[in-house]
Amino acid sequence: MKIVVIQGPNLNMLGVREQQIYGSMKLEQIHAQMRDFAAQSSFDIEFFQSNLEGEIVDKIQECYGDANGIILNAAAYTHTSIAIRDAISAVNLPTIEVHISNIHRREEFRKQNMIAPVCTSSIVGFGPFGYHLAMVGMVQIMNEIKAVQEMQQQQATQAE
Ligand code: DQA
Repeated sequence: MKIVVIQGPNLNMLGVREQQIYGSMKLEQIHAQMRDFAAQSSFDIEFFQSNLEGEIVDKIQECYGDANGIILNAAAYTHTSIAIRDAISAVNLPTIEVHISNIHRREEFRKQNMIAPVCTSSIVGFGPFGYHLAMVGMVQIMNEIKAVQEMQQQQATQAE
């Protein structure tokens, strides 16, 4: 099983940018914790960060046929990007959206969310711990998919 973690614009500045909102952890530290969790749970993990919308679209497209699930913080593009939304719909993979801050209790413009309606679920407002919750959530989703597939296989064998 492979999970791809995609981080949008300015998340490379975590630990520096607006610490009162995003905390003091750097992106590398968050990723190190995620890497440990992935190793313990025996799945592959890949990290990608870009400040460019098109590169994020390309990365989501690359996940098709390569990854089993996506954890995505589209950052500011969350509020504007139909292109990222369409890419998520196109690849049709389980996708968990993460926001470090609680976007619902911030500025009005952050209440518009292009991404959430096409994601499997959203985790907001837990700080960097939200990424850990997303990993736990992804394992649960993968287990549920496996259970359904096994049941379908069993039913197909019985029908033969
Ligand atoms: C963010 C919230 C966005 O509104 C903002 O533009 C970000 C980070 C978050 O993780 O809380 O860059 O996605």
